[in-house]
Amino acid sequence: RVRPIVAIDGPAGAGKSSVARRLAERLGFVLVDTGALYRTVALAAERAAVPFDDGEALAQLARSLVESNAIVFERSSGGPKVKLFGEDVSDAIRTPEMGLGASTVSAHGGVRAALLDLQRQMGASGGVVLEGRDIGTVVFPDAEVKFFLTASPEIRAGRRYKELTDKGQVVTFERILEEVKQRDANDMNRAHAPLRQAETAILIDSSGSTVDITVSKMAAIVLAKI
Ligand code: C5P
Repeated sequence: RVRPIVAIDGPAGAGKSSVARRLAERLGFVLVDTGALYRTVALAAERAAVPFDDGEALAQLARSLVESNAIVFERSSGGPKVKLFGEDVSDAIRTPEMGLGASTVSAHGGVRAALLDLQRQMGASGGVVLEGRDIGTVVFPDAEVKFFLTASPEIRAGRRYKELTDKGQVVTFERILEEVKQRDANDMNRAHAPLRQAETAILIDSSGSTVDITVSKMAAIVLAKI
């Protein structure tokens, strides 16, 4: 590839979204938030009343969403937007319920398989930062640069709490911490593409660091490789 693929994996709330967005801006790369794909499938499933434990029905739903190009990522001045059948669902997928929903839905192998080619297409031409759980291990094992971004559960819950309350959502810290731990357990213990650090991934702990410092560190590593 002339332009590299940068994979960023890590647990919920490690700061991946802000770090990935800023890193992509800094490098002039396209950003692909793969969590948004799983969240959108969860939202579509909820709306279609497909139970989150029915792997076959969920896989079929995910395949039909992909085949009909129902999920579209758009760049806009206000940040990236996600559309489902033309409707802007960027906010609707950002609730704690859809976070947990995505975690449940994404545990089904058929759902992951349905979204695999789409993610590969989105990154194929390079010059892209892909953010998720299994980018460096499954989606692009040959990515030129792989990061595993993490932070302690309390720090991650604190960040998510601030993010949600800033948006006016009513949540408690304890509930968020519980969700963070629940999602870690879901993501790390699932049979299909569990969350783990790829052998060749560079570990970045953002616990004591600002987004700025973390992004600068990562940008320097990418630029040194290209
Ligand atoms: O990153 P985000 O919080 O939006 O992801 C929501 C959920 O989607 C994660 O908890 C995880 O279960 C799932 N996911 C995944 N693989 C990815 C991205 C997200 O399984 N590449």
